[in-house]
Parts: sequence; C-alpha cells; structure tokens
Amino acid sequence: MVVNKETLILSLLLGLLVFVSQPVPSYQEVDFYDWVTQQPANTTDEDAGCAKKDASLSSVEAIRVNNIIDPSATDEGRYNTIGASIANIPDGNTKRYVLTLKAGTVYHEKVFLDKSKPFVTIRSEDPYNPAVIVWSDTAATLGKDGKPLGINGSSTVTIESDYFISYGVVFKNDAPLSKPWAKNAEAPALRVLGTKATIYNCTIDGGQGALYDQMGLHYYKSSTIKGTVDFIFGFAKSLYEDCRIISMNKDAMTLPIAPQPRNAIKAVPGESGFSFKTCTVEGEGQQIYLGRVDLPFMYSYSKIDKEIVPIIYGLDSVQTPTRGEIFGMFKCHRPDRGAPIVFDLNYAEAKPFIGTHFISGNSWIPSLPPAE
Ligand SMILES: *[C@@H]1O[C@H](CO)[C@@H](O)[C@H](O)[C@H]1NC(C)=O
Ligand SMILES: *[C@@H]1O[C@H](CO)[C@@H](O)[C@H](O)[C@H]1NC(C)=O
Ligand SMILES: *[C@@H]1O[C@H](CO)[C@@H](O)[C@H](O)[C@H]1NC(C)=O
Repeated sequence: MVVNKETLILSLLLGLLVFVSQPVPSYQEVDFYDWVTQQPANTTDEDAGCAKKDASLSSVEAIRVNNIIDPSATDEGRYNTIGASIANIPDGNTKRYVLTLKAGTVYHEKVFLDKSKPFVTIRSEDPYNPAVIVWSDTAATLGKDGKPLGINGSSTVTIESDYFISYGVVFKNDAPLSKPWAKNAEAPALRVLGTKATIYNCTIDGGQGALYDQMGLHYYKSSTIKGTVDFIFGFAKSLYEDCRIISMNKDAMTLPIAPQPRNAIKAVPGESGFSFKTCTVEGEGQQIYLGRVDLPFMYSYSKIDKEIVPIIYGLDSVQTPTRGEIFGMFKCHRPDRGAPIVFDLNYAEAKPFIGTHFISGNSWIPSLPPAE
C-alpha cells in the first residue's frame, strides 16, 4: 500500500488529537466546584437512567442460600464462624448468600470477603439485639511475615467483593485508642473496596480510621459510625443517609478525609467523594476539623453539633485552605453559620448529591430492610 504524504500528516494529526483529548484524571486537590459540575446535573433517581436494575441482580436475588452462623452449634449444616461460611461460598457464585448472625452474639474473628465472592449478605438475626464482629489489629500490628499489617491489613472486616449487603451488624475494632494522629495507629473496623455495597442499620466502631471507605459505590443508610480521628476516609463514592457520626476523640473531631498522601489510591474527580444527607455529626471534641486537601465532600440537611474549624489539614499540619480546598453544604443546621470556607450551595448545585442518584443507586440498592 502506498501511503502519500497528506494521508500520513492527517493520521498523525488525528492521532495527536485523540491523544490530547484523552481524559486525564487529575488526582490531587480536587476543586470543589469541579467536583460539583462533574456530577450528572439536575438528575433525579428516575431520570438518571438508573431505575433500570443491574442485569445480573434479578436472577441472583431469586435464589437465596441461607447460612446460620452459630459459634455454639454442633449440628451438621451450621457454621461456627463467619470465615468457615465464607470459605464454603463457591468462587464466582451467582446466588445471594445470606449469612445470619445470632442475636447478641460476639464473633471474635477477622473477616475477609474475597472479590471472587459477590452477592453476600451478612445480617443480624435481630437488629434490636445486634451481633458484633470484633478484632483488634492496628496498622502497626505485625503480620505473619513479621511486617506491620498497614492500613489495608488491619481492618476487622474487609469487603473486596461487589453487591455486598449488611444489615443490623456491629463492626468493631477494639484496639486501645491511640493518641490522635499517631503513626500507624489506624484501627479500622470496616474496609469496603468492592462496589455497590449497602450498609444498613449497622454500627461501625473503631479508632483512628474506623471506616476505610476505600473505593466503589457505597450506600450507608441509618447507620452509626464512631471513631477518633480521620475516621471516615478513602476514595469511594458514597452516600451516607440518615447516619449518626460520632467522634470519640476529646481533642478535636476530624471528619471525612482522604488517606494520607503516601497511600497509593488517589481521588478521581467524579468518581470519588462523600455526600452526607440528613445525618447528625456529634461527639466529644470541641471543634470539627473538616477535610483533608484532596477529597471533596458535601453535607446536606444535616445537623452539625460543633463549631467547624475553617481549616484543612495535610499530613502533619493544619493549613488554611485555598479556594480549591473547600467543602459544601446545603440546608445544614450548624452553630457557626459564618464559617468562612463553608460554601452554602443552592438547590441546583446540591441536587446531584442529595439522593441515591449520586451513586446510581436505583440500579443496585436493595429494598430495605433487605429480605431474609
Ligand atoms: C431541572 O429539572 C427541572 C424539572 O425536570 C426543570 O424544570 C429545570 O429546567 C431543569 N433545570 C436545568 C438547569 O436543567
Ligand atoms: C491497599 O489496597 C489497595 C486496593 O487493593 C491497593 O491498590 C494498594 O496498593 C494497597 N496499599 C498497600 C500499601 O498495600
Ligand atoms: C437498628 O434498628 C433497630 C430497630 O429499629 C434500632 O433499635 C437500632 O438502634 C438500629 N441501629 C442503628 C445502628 O441505627
């Protein structure tokens, strides 16, 4: 084939054009208003096109496998540990496995749900008398290889698979509370990195970094999240609705933040960020330090108990934010209405954040409470 000069130049130009127009994810210091404009504008659950259920879900939900986990059971067909029950779920399962925990029972185990096992529910038999899953590793705890577990390895429960549901369970890390911001002191109770996870009527109770909301689309509904500093963190895109957020740190309350700069995962605008809707933020600290430089977040219709400190902090220092390092609010109740970096959005700006459409939820959020 003879390639003439014009064709060559044209294809080079086209190649350059394609190269230049590739979306380049910008990783740090996400400008709050960029984040706002990257959300699907003016959408409702219905017109976001997410009323359509994920294709796999209806057949999956039609077949349930029920496992009862009872530490004291001796009869055949019952599991003594959550781990044993998970080990029995086939890789690539296409049914929903419902693991039911006995009322008021404490499960002393570290739970890891591998990504090859989607569609798992872990629920309490009785949400009025919830089951507790507890362990006490921190990032500094040494693993089998003699090295510190790190943040990834220290969580009591880790959910790597998609379409996880939890209902009425207490996730706990009871490592002794460390000094605020101590190095390697993270003590997460729950780490979620699978996508399309629903956490309903649960308690997440840990120390520093109690909830490692690592990545994926997540829906936290009617749940309580307790911790010390930086206790909701990660790069997921999550809606927290009707949640109680309680700071157990007497010095200062520090809320949703991004991981330390040394963490490998970075926020991608439009795909990361937290939206808190109709939540309460309370606790022992006198003030709330909101945010770290590299993750945007948004509060709407929420009650915030304490004075908001108009600062953002980096890894080791507290800084005054520049304009790009801000967070937004819509119709929140808070004592210091005039805090200089709190941007009150208007309804049109807030709308993308204030419903399950923020996380394309209508295609995957189960009807609540999840069926047995
Ligand atoms: C948002 O949606 C409403 C109702 O569908 C419509 O009346 C309005 O014009 C829309 N606003 C924008 C900015 O598109
Ligand atoms: C933590 O987990 C994420 C997701 O699996 C991974 O990308 C990252 O490299 C891990 N970090 C460390 C320090 O192992
Ligand atoms: C879960 O639901 C039960 C029953 O309504 C309620 O008593 C309990 O406080 C709820 N738990 C959380 C963490 O909200």
